[in-house]
Amino acid sequence: ERSEMEARIREIKEKLGDDLFLPCHHYQKDEVVQFADSIGDSLQLAQVAAKNKKAKHIVFCGVHFMAETADMLTEDYQDVYLPDMRAGCSMADMADIYQTEEAWKELQNIFGDTIIPLTYVNSTAAIKAFTGRYGGACVTSSNAKKMVRWAFTQKERLFFLPDQHLGRNTAFDIGIPLEQMAVWDPYKNALEFEGNVDDIKVILWKGHCSVHQGFTPANVYQVREKYPDMKIIVHPECCREVVELADDNGSTKYIVDVINNAPSGSSWAIGTEMNLVKRIIAEHPDKSIISLNENMCPCLTMNRIDLPHLLWALEMIDNGEQGNIIQVDKETTREAILSLDRMLQLA
Ligand code: 13P
Ligand code: SF4
Repeated sequence: ERSEMEARIREIKEKLGDDLFLPCHHYQKDEVVQFADSIGDSLQLAQVAAKNKKAKHIVFCGVHFMAETADMLTEDYQDVYLPDMRAGCSMADMADIYQTEEAWKELQNIFGDTIIPLTYVNSTAAIKAFTGRYGGACVTSSNAKKMVRWAFTQKERLFFLPDQHLGRNTAFDIGIPLEQMAVWDPYKNALEFEGNVDDIKVILWKGHCSVHQGFTPANVYQVREKYPDMKIIVHPECCREVVELADDNGSTKYIVDVINNAPSGSSWAIGTEMNLVKRIIAEHPDKSIISLNENMCPCLTMNRIDLPHLLWALEMIDNGEQGNIIQVDKETTREAILSLDRMLQLA
């Protein structure tokens, strides 16, 4: 059955040719990745989507916010499809636009016109639009430092959402002390901070990635004890303590590059999503590589895109039917593009 599905996917891909484009995030399953026209992290996929002017059908193998971004960066004659509409992102869902507007109002009361929003691309189009409206920009994990530095050329303090860990790790890396960072709790509609609010430089939305939060300091201690020579590399969506204890941290692309360039015989524990870690292990038989957490940490929503869903989406396109099209409304797109463009121009 599996081989029949694969053969049919190949057949449709061949038939549609350049009319079809299939971008695929690194965290997708191998059964899907084998058909990718382009594999990348969030930034790379946003860039390839923006460049592709040929494909009428873009079948996005990733999660909902990535498909929304692809829709906003492509032309009107190009449709973006998500093979399974349930492929969302729990982190993106942690920042709701109404809560965000409420937060912004409160923050204006406290800080006046001294804040700029900076939004991780792992967010809904509505949050990107909010960001664009107030002069802010998007960031991804591979350009976060550059974008945080840029934000400080614009305003005295920044409002980073929705991932508190990427925000905290990035701000710390560019020299902002932890004492100058506050957390915004959207459920209490209040700041978590002890001290003088005038000292706050970074306000972190209280969101996280449940996959990367699965890597703990205990995992690091276990690996250090069992394999004293092993290097530990993690994604900056991991919490501060884990990033601090690791040997290195960086975006998905950074992790892939570091392992590709590592000497034969070296050993690594990687703290990022399971499908990617498994693929890296398979691609480097000359290196000894494990997941930092032996439970592996899969992203359940990424995993909803599988062979049957991909085939279903392609069959639909082949039959000239319309379904699972991701379309962001014009007004949201107009404002969200402002924040995406500020990032793409600097990145
Ligand atoms: P990057 O692709 O930017 O590394 O982001 C990781 C991620 O969690 C994607 O959902
Ligand atoms: Fe969202 Fe985390 Fe999954 Fe990425 S890995 S899609 S941030 S839940």
